Formats: sequence, structure tokens, C-alpha cells
Amino acid sequence: MSDGDTPARSLGGRFDEATDAILHRINRSVPVDQRLWREDIGGSHTHARMLAKVGLITEADRDALWQGLDAVHAEFEAGTFLFQEADEDIHMAVERRLGELVGEPARRLHTGRSRNDQVMTDTLLWLRGAIAGLHGHLSDVVDTLLVRAEEGLDTVMPGFTHSQPAQVSSVAHWLLAHADEATDHLRRLADLHRRIDASPLGSGANAGSFLPLDRETTAANLGFDRPSGNSIASTGSRMALLDAVGVCAMIGTSLSRLGEELVWWSSPQFRWIRLPDRLTTGSSLLPHKRNPDGAELIRGQGKVLPAEFAAMAATMAALPTGYSKDLQHDKAILFRAMDGCRDAVVLTGAHVAALSWDAERLRAACVPQLGALWLADRLVLAGMPFRTAHHLVGAVVRMAGEGSLVDGLEAVSIEHAVPDLEAIHAELTALTPEAMLTGLKTAGSAAPDQVRLQIDALRVRRDATRLGHAED
Ligand code: ARG
Repeated sequence: MSDGDTPARSLGGRFDEATDAILHRINRSVPVDQRLWREDIGGSHTHARMLAKVGLITEADRDALWQGLDAVHAEFEAGTFLFQEADEDIHMAVERRLGELVGEPARRLHTGRSRNDQVMTDTLLWLRGAIAGLHGHLSDVVDTLLVRAEEGLDTVMPGFTHSQPAQVSSVAHWLLAHADEATDHLRRLADLHRRIDASPLGSGANAGSFLPLDRETTAANLGFDRPSGNSIASTGSRMALLDAVGVCAMIGTSLSRLGEELVWWSSPQFRWIRLPDRLTTGSSLLPHKRNPDGAELIRGQGKVLPAEFAAMAATMAALPTGYSKDLQHDKAILFRAMDGCRDAVVLTGAHVAALSWDAERLRAACVPQLGALWLADRLVLAGMPFRTAHHLVGAVVRMAGEGSLVDGLEAVSIEHAVPDLEAIHAELTALTPEAMLTGLKTAGSAAPDQVRLQIDALRVRRDATRLGHAED
């Protein structure tokens, strides 16, 4: 131990003095990267096997290393592993403990390896697992959205543009808008999972090793398809991490829009949907409150996750191609993004599964003006040019005010020639929100038969995103 609070250097051969206390504290990444212990030990296990295979260590050394690594693994698993202040990061901590347990063979483990290729190997192994987990959770949310959509095929509600009532839609159609985006995110995750296929191990610090390392073997043993290509890129780039945080940012952006709708539509002003007590919280002051904190936190991830993407991009931006310590910030960002995204996804699933909707209020919100496009299209079918029909129906709506379009049509038809007036008048009088819904003709529309097709198509698309089966 040297002066001050700074522990002795573990890599101290070329230094005359101990690391400054403040540098040591800020440089020390154990609080964040200890999460990689499993991958770090697994990577070392594989590395030791390869070193023995190519004759750089003896089989006895390899066996000692394996035994020691198993013991370190057991300590982590039991929660008894003790970090020391001098441990700079998870890699040095594992190697230090291994030395305490097995002695001399531990001094051979880092042969042909740098922490630069080691940390990327660990991180990519971790990320692959995290992406698989996130994919599973998001897939569950898509399932739930599709099941709930089947319940709401015939439940009419207004569809909005500009937050103004636009057309009659359905609960199912609304839910599928979210399922559609989420399914695209599943494809992104599956693609990302497939593309994390190259092992950085054996890249060394920057330009490679003088030793006859067998990178093919370590790659295969770690479950990668191949060793990574350029050794500068595989140690100095964090593009795969940026890619993952980018998908998280996109997922967060999607979910935040659902969160926003849940917040407002469950509010006392709307009461279109209801969230169960277990998904709402109370106020410390206002006894009557029932706050949609969960939906708000989902909405909040739409702000936070894109900010994590910006943080990861900024961490890399303008750095020279080889490894720089700036990059150590990557893991805190990655972990926050993957954890935050997973939590938001799981919480969204809980909301979608548990929300109920008030069909009567949703139907009552389908105001008469929502018949405007129906009327314009009907006039087109009667031979009127669309722009003329648009103008005429505008006048009908103006005359009708808040009331029925039938009254408006009657008033307008006194002064304007309306083709097929008698039939159109009768159809408009009988028009219900449900009739408007079933009257929609186009693929992708809110018509229940079309929505059923969308549900089937989304199931097929979702199945095609299974990991290892990603579409190109
Ligand atoms: N803890 C480091 C990180 O996460 C590991 C790589 C350190 N490399 C080095 N050359 N100091 O970035």
C-alpha cells in the first residue's frame, strides 16, 4: 500500500508512484462492470482451454485455472466474492482472486489477451443474453395486445388525428397500431441478436498478438459464429452497443405513446379505460387521487431511452479508432438502457393485460361529425367529384353544429343539388358508428374483418422474428 488512500498498483511495473486517489476512484469500474462476472469467468475458461490447446500453457496449468475459475464462480454465485479497493475492474478482480486461489498458473491466464478484447467479449456475451430476454418480454406484450384486440374487434371508438376525432375506429384497431410497431421492434431485436456473431477475443489491445492464438476455437466455444475481423474495430468500436441502445430508444419511443394514451384515457375527464388499483398509486396529500404512475413511467422512458442513445453516441463520437478509456462509460449506459427498456416493456404488458374499457363511453365519443367522410365518400359513389363533395359536406357539418349530420344535409340540400338525395338521406339517418366500422373497405382499415386479417398477419410476422430465424 502506498501513500494516501490509494491502494498499490496491480499493473505497477513501469510506475514510480501510486495512482492518485481521485483518478483511482473514477477509473475504478467495479461498481458497474461487476455485473459481467459470469461472462468474464466464462471467457477466461475458454481462453485457458485455447491456450492449452495451442501449447502456450500446460494442461496442468489449464486444469488449475479451470478449478480456480470454478471456485471464483462459486464465490460470486454465493455472494461471498470480496472485491478489494485495488481491483480496477471486474477483469482484474477475477484475475487477482484466481491468483490467491491457484497461484502461479493465474499469472499465465492473460497470455495473448488484453482487457480491450476481454471487455468487449464479456459485454457482447452479456448483450446477446439481454437482447434475448428483451425479445421474449416484448413478444409477450405483442401476444397480449393481439389477444386484447380480439376482444375489442367490434368496440367502436374515435380514431384521432391532431388529437381531434377523425373517424370511427375500434379498440382492436387502436391496440394493433401498437402491436404493429412492437412487431417491427421484435424484428430489429432478432436481427441485432443475429448480428452479434463475432468474437473479439484474440484481438489483443489493438493490432493483434505475436502468439499463435486459435481465435476460431475460442469463437466457437463462446457460441459465436466466427472471430471478429479488424482488431482495431473489435476493441475500439462500440457500434453494436449503440445499435442495441438505439433499438431500446425506438421501443421506448413507441411505448411512450401508449403510455400517453393510457394516462389521458384513464383520467376522470375521459374514463374510456380503467387501470386496476394495482397499477395506480395514491397521493401523499390528496386523498382522492388515483395516479397512473406506471403509465407515466412508461411514457417517461420515451424521453430517457433516446437520451441514453445520445449518451452512447457521444461517448464514441470523435474518438480515434483504437480503445480509449472514454469508452468505459459504455457499460453504465448500456445497462441503464437495457434495464430501463425491459422494465418499461414488462410494465406495459401488465397494463395492456389488465386495462378494461368502457364501451358505452367510447361509443358516445363517436360524435356525429365522424360521419363526414362516410358522407363525402357516399356522394363520390353517387358521381360527385370528391373536391365538390368535400366542400358540400363541410357545409353540412357547419349547418349541423354539434347535432346530427342529417339536419345539416337537409339544410344544405335546399340550396345545393345533392345526387341520390333520398337514398343518401335514408342511409345517413340509419347510420350508426358500428355500421361505419363495418362499412370500411380497405385493407389495414378498422373494419372488423380487416382487423382480423391484421391480427393473423401480425402473428405470422411475430413468429418470423424468433431468435435465430430473423428475416433479412
Ligand atoms: N474497464 C475497462 C473498460 O470497461 C476495461 C478495458 C480497459 N482497458 C485498458 N486498456 N485500460 O473499458
